[in-house]
Amino acid sequence: MDIVIFDTPDAVAEVAAQHVSRCLLALPSAHLGLATGATPGGVYQHLTYAHQRGILRLSEVRYFMLDEYVGIDPNKPTSFQNVLRRELLSPIGAEPNALEILDGNATDLPAEAERFENALRSAGGIDLQILGIGTNGHIGFNEPGSSFTSRTRVVELHPETVQSNARYFNSPEDVPRKALSQGLGTILEARSILLLATGGSKAHAISSMVEGLSSPRNPASILQGHPDVTVVIDAAAASLLRSAPTVASQVSA
Ligand code: PGA
Repeated sequence: MDIVIFDTPDAVAEVAAQHVSRCLLALPSAHLGLATGATPGGVYQHLTYAHQRGILRLSEVRYFMLDEYVGIDPNKPTSFQNVLRRELLSPIGAEPNALEILDGNATDLPAEAERFENALRSAGGIDLQILGIGTNGHIGFNEPGSSFTSRTRVVELHPETVQSNARYFNSPEDVPRKALSQGLGTILEARSILLLATGGSKAHAISSMVEGLSSPRNPASILQGHPDVTVVIDAAAASLLRSAPTVASQVSA
């Protein structure tokens, strides 16, 4: 696991975008797995900017969702599909079908999960998967207790996750309790992984992921067994690491 620490969330977003850009410059038709949440938004802004300035070509990339709420209309601003289209795919002018969706509104959710797995397999898998991490160590919506071999499926959201997601909804009753999520086994098959975290609320999850016991109780710890993981975090998220590398003070151009 390569761990890179920067002073600020802005620097994390910039460095993470540079990491994605390097991958896409080497492989313009890469398959990119997209996380949603507060953390990756800045990365998508940098990528959009680079695309609009002609520095980076995002038109050949194929995108895959990491997770989606169950029972949410994709036209609602809180749906992850809507967030990804709004924050990245529309601004770069991607074709609607450039995004392999997880349809949380499907009538047969297990069939939708299987369809996504088949689409991923026949596409040849993900080259670079972008991940955030929950305060309880989830990646995607794989909550503590998720099997390391789990595949894309319907999951129940942990109360801590429901509470954390409440900030995006008008009332507590509107916050989804279920989601479709790539499984831990699915995520582990991505050829490389870029995990981002900022803020002190993520410090415990980051130290458990890096230095804790690898166990389904601590879902992100599955990444200890992946050969190509880059973790880009700010100093606050790194504050509980016992063996923290020094904080990088500069972002290279
Ligand atoms: P956040 O979510 O980026 O909004 O903190 C991360 C996650 O729960 O995976």
